[in-house]
Amino acid sequence: MSFVTVTDVWQSYGGRSIIERVNLDVAEGAFVSIVGASGCGKSTFLRLLLADETPSRGEIRIDGGPPAREPGRERGVVFQRYSVFPHMTVRDNVVAAESFATGLGRFFGGRLRAARERADATLARIGLAHVAAQYPATLSGACSSASPSARR
Ligand SMILES: Nc1ncnc2c1ncn2[C@@H]1O[C@H](COP(=O)(O)OP(=O)(O)OP(=O)(O)O)[C@@H](O)[C@H]1O
Ligand SMILES: [Mg+2]
Repeated sequence: MSFVTVTDVWQSYGGRSIIERVNLDVAEGAFVSIVGASGCGKSTFLRLLLADETPSRGEIRIDGGPPAREPGRERGVVFQRYSVFPHMTVRDNVVAAESFATGLGRFFGGRLRAARERADATLARIGLAHVAAQYPATLSGACSSASPSARR
């Protein structure tokens, strides 16, 4: 069952075709990498998936409907730069993401301790447990940009 369905999508700017005839079915939970030469249209395609732009032709459906035009928790982009708080450890960056998602503001006391344990479990799952206490600037580019989410 396809979760993201892209059907014959084209995108052009000022009459110049950037993306042509893109067809794609992605199952829920699948991990997909888009690889291509610089300028081939990867970021353009991600903007279409985020509904930042509308395709010149074709259709994109996510979970059975058109992609929502407003930001939502079901989609995210992690920019290769500016994606972390430089003054917080890797662990506390992960905790911050959870605190934003809950809308409760900054965590303190027992809630903070529990969130740090969850952050450590998450970091272990993606192979970054060894850098939990480090600051982003001390990591290599590959480490600091490691993420299960899409990147531009
Ligand atoms: N808003 C726009 N108006 C006009 N041309 C654009 C626009 N956005 C992208 N382009 C052009 O579309 C082409 C694809 O750009 P895009 O940024 O999608 O490539 P990319 O695959 O993400 O490249 P990179 O690997 O360098 O990030 C480029 O030639 C770019 O100049
Ligand atoms: Mg790009």
